[in-house]
Amino acid sequence: MKMIQTAEAMQSEADEARRAGRRLALVPTMGALHDGHCALVRRAKKEADHVTVSIFVNPAQFGPGEDLDAYPRDLDGDLDTLETLGGVDVVFAPPAEEMYPLGAPQAWVEVEGLVDTLNGPHRPGHFRGVTTVVTKLFHLCRPHVGVFGEKDAQQFVILRRMTEELHFGVEIAGVPTQREADGLACSSRNEYLSQEERAQAPVLAEAVCAAHGLIAGTTEEQPAEAVVGQMRDALAEAPLAEPQYVAVVGARDLQPVETIAPGQDVLAAMAVFFGDTRLIDNAFVTAGSQEEAEKGER
Ligand code: PAJ
Repeated sequence: MKMIQTAEAMQSEADEARRAGRRLALVPTMGALHDGHCALVRRAKKEADHVTVSIFVNPAQFGPGEDLDAYPRDLDGDLDTLETLGGVDVVFAPPAEEMYPLGAPQAWVEVEGLVDTLNGPHRPGHFRGVTTVVTKLFHLCRPHVGVFGEKDAQQFVILRRMTEELHFGVEIAGVPTQREADGLACSSRNEYLSQEERAQAPVLAEAVCAAHGLIAGTTEEQPAEAVVGQMRDALAEAPLAEPQYVAVVGARDLQPVETIAPGQDVLAAMAVFFGDTRLIDNAFVTAGSQEEAEKGER
């Protein structure tokens, strides 16, 4: 496993691997690696024969008052995790000056529309920070495939749109959300939770599960509001949970839907505060897929 910290060395490594005919995968991360990240690396190993994991806490995607300084950093621990996992060719862990060599960014990559819903209005500028840094990482690591988690569903949809619309020539692979034994989605931010908050946090997964059941079981058109209501009821079971948004949106356009009809692809999504810690969870579901599955079994 090679450790690379400069933009130039990363580009040379990627060019050489491409010239040798290898298929390159990139797994972008901000470090503090957990089982969710490990699932991405395993997928990358299936998708390609040269795997780069980037570790970079990207200042451009944190808003004022967000947790940039407090964000957990543990490069040595992350290297151990990747070494144990095996099959990683390169860890790209650049300092900020390598990623932003001209200082404060003036060149941004922005996706419109998809950033106007769900997390977007609550985290102004966040997604343009993500699309800009992922563009830089793609330019430096030159992957054939980029691997991302569906846990950050909106980020996933935005990045897929960016790469398709701007002809990046990079495939986007999605990995289902990895969870702790009690259902809580793995996240670096889970470390911020107090014991009491941690005990109540699986309520997000329960709300997602309720939404999944209702949507997958759709036999005739139903109001999205009914599903949102059930999600909110599930969240209300946790006294410490303060929902920021709860929504059902189209799986591709991320715009709110009024009704859910069999065959429709939707995303049930939420952000919930526990104290200062903001957690998200969500699920892509095809309405009526449960019915379809049952028909198939008969
Ligand atoms: P980070 O939060 O470190 O996440 C890195 C990748 O891991 C993302 O694709 C994210 O969706 C995925 N991931 C996180 N938790 C997961 C889980 N429980 N199950 C499956 N996948 C999970 O997302 C970012 O970093 C940054 O925005 C980044 C894309 C690296 C750009 O800076």
